Amino acid sequence: MAGLRIVGRALVDGKLLDEVTVEIDGEFISSVSIGESGSGPRLLLSKGQLLLPSATDLHVHLRDWDQAYKEDVFTGTSAAAAGGITTIAEMPNTVPPIRSPEALRERLKLLATRAVVDYAVHIGPLKKPEDASRALELGACGMKLYPEDLERLEDYLRVSRESGIRLVVHAELKGGDEVETVKMLLSYVKAGDDIRLAHISRAESLRIIELAKKELGARITVEATPHHLLLSYEELDENSRRISTVRPPLASMSDRQYIFSGLKRCSVDFIASDHAPHTLEEKLSGKNAPGFPGLEITYPLMLTEWFEDRLDISTLVKKLCRAPAEYLGIPKGEIKKGFYADLAVFDMRERWSISAKDFLSKAKYTPFEGRKLSAKLISVFRRGELIYNGELIAKGGGIHVSELRQKHG
Ligand code: NCD
Ligand code: ZN
Repeated sequence: MAGLRIVGRALVDGKLLDEVTVEIDGEFISSVSIGESGSGPRLLLSKGQLLLPSATDLHVHLRDWDQAYKEDVFTGTSAAAAGGITTIAEMPNTVPPIRSPEALRERLKLLATRAVVDYAVHIGPLKKPEDASRALELGACGMKLYPEDLERLEDYLRVSRESGIRLVVHAELKGGDEVETVKMLLSYVKAGDDIRLAHISRAESLRIIELAKKELGARITVEATPHHLLLSYEELDENSRRISTVRPPLASMSDRQYIFSGLKRCSVDFIASDHAPHTLEEKLSGKNAPGFPGLEITYPLMLTEWFEDRLDISTLVKKLCRAPAEYLGIPKGEIKKGFYADLAVFDMRERWSISAKDFLSKAKYTPFEGRKLSAKLISVFRRGELIYNGELIAKGGGIHVSELRQKHG
């Protein structure tokens, strides 16, 4: 039986085409053709609407467990769906942390019952290569190092080389800044290493990384967040400053402009939200609560950059959708036959302003409050299933990336 056809403007092979038919059969895209074709149920996009791949976010803190008051797996993944994100990779600094194969197994159980979108999990520092190998068997997508772990960087590099687990580094040593930390880190990297640098925020860091990418023969990849791409401390008003504390801190306007230009030079590989929810009370009391929610606005914020002519759409969708999916080894992030039907419909004619009180995340504040956007999310499909259409439809159903790879065969 023929599945759903979506007909309208879509991004195919890096190009925006005015009339495309995307056919969905079960969980996959079964054909992509120019013009209208096929028969059976049809979703006809209106003028101004645009079909894009949904996104994969490599840097998400869903909290839960002892910090479920800040966010839990259900509310966090609901926020992802409401932001056009259908796969997330979780960070391991939960309480208790995910630092052993046993903890990872527990986490995967929780995600299997509560996640609305598909998921991967990073594991925290593991000292023994055999633990890393077990974590890899369970499907860990990388080992995340925090600033306090960098004293033992050489140990973790060894574990990574021996087990094959990739490293993801928050490059900001205690008392040191990002630039110094990036320099130190890269001095230990050898050809063949695989290291992802999380949320790079400073122009000088990116310049150093750009050289290293060319010279070291290692796979060095870079994440940038919407806040480091679009906000600088000096541009914020007093109110936003109070809730904009984040690690690494928002930098200067020239820093953010340089990071933004890295998207075009391809030295920035991924756009990731670093969704890091805390309660508003924690933020306002000046407690150690760095970070803020970002899942719901990352895609619309960045799409507005395209709409306002600051970035081309093919680059943008590559960094938000295809490159992170490729990192996780899953066929998502492109509108292409054989790929999962993970899709998002945006309306580019509807101007709207960000209002955090509408977030599905438990954290209902953002330094982007009131910002005007030109990309309104209309609907989201996860593996062919409509999970969001202005309201959240799915109440679960997310699966692990290793299952995604198996099903695809
Ligand atoms: C992260 C968090 O809250 O978990 N916060 C942040 O500001 N990015 C922790 C971290 O990545 O340092
Ligand atoms: Zn983080």
